[in-house]
Amino acid sequence: MKVHLIYFSPGGTTKRTVHNIAQGMGNVEVIEHDMLVQENRRKKYNFKTDDLVILGMMTATKLFGVPEEIFNSIQGHNTPIVGVVLYGNGYYGKSLICMKKEVESRGFKMVAAGAFIGQSSFAPKIAKGRPDAKDREIQLQFGKDIYEKVVVNKDFSFKSKLKINWPKDDTLTFVKCAIGSALPGYTVKLPYAWNQLSLNDNCIQCKKCEKHCPVNAIDIFTKSFDRKKCLGCAGCISICPKKAISLANPSLVNMMKKLETTRAERKEPKTFF
Ligand SMILES: Cc1cc2nc3c(=O)[nH]c(=O)nc-3n(C[C@H](O)[C@H](O)[C@H](O)COP(=O)(O)O)c2cc1C
Repeated sequence: MKVHLIYFSPGGTTKRTVHNIAQGMGNVEVIEHDMLVQENRRKKYNFKTDDLVILGMMTATKLFGVPEEIFNSIQGHNTPIVGVVLYGNGYYGKSLICMKKEVESRGFKMVAAGAFIGQSSFAPKIAKGRPDAKDREIQLQFGKDIYEKVVVNKDFSFKSKLKINWPKDDTLTFVKCAIGSALPGYTVKLPYAWNQLSLNDNCIQCKKCEKHCPVNAIDIFTKSFDRKKCLGCAGCISICPKKAISLANPSLVNMMKKLETTRAERKEPKTFF
């Protein structure tokens, strides 16, 4: 059985997580498809019953990034798939439910799923350093359990009932999550005003941000960020070796400061079979 890792991971936490899961599976052949790369999202991937796909995406209330392109690029033929979402110690809303629905309408069978915590894209103090050593142990064990279930026992069942992960502690966030969950589609896009980035003098024009941006929204030579294209994924902020890029919208910066307090308590990963 070949294990295909498909991931969209601007900040790298989703990528690390799917890697750990695959490592937990032991000595399997692993093939990677990095969906941050635009050309990869435009390819067509056909998977067989004896492939296993691990699909990892970062999340807001629903899935975030470019899920439509990713889903449209993959086709299964009764192919087992593991759904993985990463969230920044807040809540993962409806993301696993959306992912299951989308992949199962494209010939896949979800055999396991997991919601894991990753360092926040916008506020690095939230869930700092995660996935950490404790998360890694859980991810390795998750991979081991998937191997036993799917590869050894050929068990493609999924008995867990996926529910919306509601924010219970804060009414305003609860209401926002409820509205977001009820809206059609699965992509949450940042309000236009929030897609504002600033570049300081530390920039050495290494172009790492340009290459990393999933939608080619950056021209570092002219110091321009195309806010119409920008997804607000914060990949450029996390990849910059000189910490030259930062959020510029005061409301968003303020909100992140508040979240540092309300999202301080450690949440633990959840897995489903
Ligand atoms: C636009 C956007 C919205 C996000 N919304 C949420 C959210 O609602 N709840 C949460 O816990 N984390 C949220 N996050 C944080 C990411 O899901 C989290 O940091 C994730 O680990 C990032 O994955 P990556 O490192 O693979 O990019 C959001 C991040 C971005 C960029």
